[in-house]
Amino acid sequence: MSEQHGSESAEAALARAYAAARTYLKGVRDVSNNVAVTQAEVRARLGTALPEKGELCEAVIESLVRAAEGALAPTAGGRFFAYVIGGTHPAGVAAEILNAAWDDKPGTPLVTPFGCAIDGLVGEWVLELLDLPREASVGVVTGASMGNFLGIVAARHALLKRAGWDVEAQGLFGAPPITVLITDEAHPTVHKALRLAGLGAKRAKAIGTDAQGAMRPDLLAAALGSATGPVLVCAQAGNIATGAMDPFAEIAPLCRTHGAWLHVDGAFGLWARVSPELSRHIQGVELADSWATDAHKMLNTPYDAGFGIVRDSAAHLGAMDITASYLVQAEGARDPSRYVPELSRRARATPIYATIRALGRQGVREMIEACCANARRMCDRLTARPGVTCLNDVVFNQAIFRFAAPGRPGNEATADALTADVATRARQSGECWVQHSQWRGRTVMRFSVADRATTAADIDRAAAAVLKAYDEAIMEPGAVA
Ligand SMILES: Cc1ncc(COP(=O)(O)O)c(C=O)c1O
Repeated sequence: MSEQHGSESAEAALARAYAAARTYLKGVRDVSNNVAVTQAEVRARLGTALPEKGELCEAVIESLVRAAEGALAPTAGGRFFAYVIGGTHPAGVAAEILNAAWDDKPGTPLVTPFGCAIDGLVGEWVLELLDLPREASVGVVTGASMGNFLGIVAARHALLKRAGWDVEAQGLFGAPPITVLITDEAHPTVHKALRLAGLGAKRAKAIGTDAQGAMRPDLLAAALGSATGPVLVCAQAGNIATGAMDPFAEIAPLCRTHGAWLHVDGAFGLWARVSPELSRHIQGVELADSWATDAHKMLNTPYDAGFGIVRDSAAHLGAMDITASYLVQAEGARDPSRYVPELSRRARATPIYATIRALGRQGVREMIEACCANARRMCDRLTARPGVTCLNDVVFNQAIFRFAAPGRPGNEATADALTADVATRARQSGECWVQHSQWRGRTVMRFSVADRATTAADIDRAAAAVLKAYDEAIMEPGAVA
């Protein structure tokens, strides 16, 4: 055997990995947000040839640590605001390490009672935290992408069953057509889920949204009124640019009246449910039929972790369940793999469990409220400067900003260029990670707060970096031509 992993080398590798993880976490707040190391450089560090012979575990870990140096964005460092990525809670990180050591795989409860039990419990906790119907069933999935897929295939199962069609047995060829009505601000992963479910991304009918990007119930009512046959409505809790929540208190009753299935992509926004103050923006979402959300975003668990939640657990199982005589089931035990697309998978509920326990319901609420308060703080800090506008109502953790050239506030093309320039300069300063994007045809700087490490001082530091970048961009010859 050429592999060199005696017990001494394994011990040394674990010790080295543990020490490197501690060092990284201790220093992550000081890591520059300007990741200068390129992918090509990392490839060169990793080596290109497939090794013929094995190496000592500790040497492998040592070279991994070196290869990652300067090549990781400090997403848990408190000043990463570009995407809704979320930091990580140390309890989750520590549990993740154990998870790997245990090689746990929550499926077939006879083999893995631990992983199966924790998966079920985490599902119950999440229904309680988000105050969703307790009879709903939960699949602990890789993230909202898979949660959206899960909700959509459960909808497909139930809607076609009602129409007398067994889609799991017969497929979609010759099936009664499902009308899909989807917010025109849907995240691309919902379109992808429709593609994967065979419902087609392009044949879905887009429902228009208001100035904040929330679905207009009058337009949904009109579309439902003219739809025939089974209908799936895809709505959203948390617009990726503005954080806007669709008006569920109006949408959900419309869907019920028409017998339509309402699926909600709530990747990050569904977590407004944990706060009495924030949940007023999301009233009625509990009336939906299925929901997708992430744990790795607002809950700050390690990647990858999320939930697909379905009110009608028979529809959930109808879409997902498989059986095989070799997969012997324990009497009365829950097999989590019956609720998700994969059979074998990481016990991703374990770090979620540890994170929720370390925070408690109160800690989860405080963490999410703090993220949202920090988004509002950034809005206050930046818009105090003439020429900077925030284009959205900051109802959750998202804000979009635009920077005008002094003396030329109405010149949109100049503001587009300037806004992109400000975001790039601010990121290159290393002080914070902000990113430019598009909103309704105009360039904006996106700002998302999803990291528990972010403090008010981090916001002030980031605001100072952005305003300095604005000053520099204005001063640069030609920048505001
Ligand atoms: C609104 C929304 N929906 C869905 C997703 C997909 O989630 P994930 O990347 O966790 O699969 C995201 C991710 O950014 C999102 O913001």
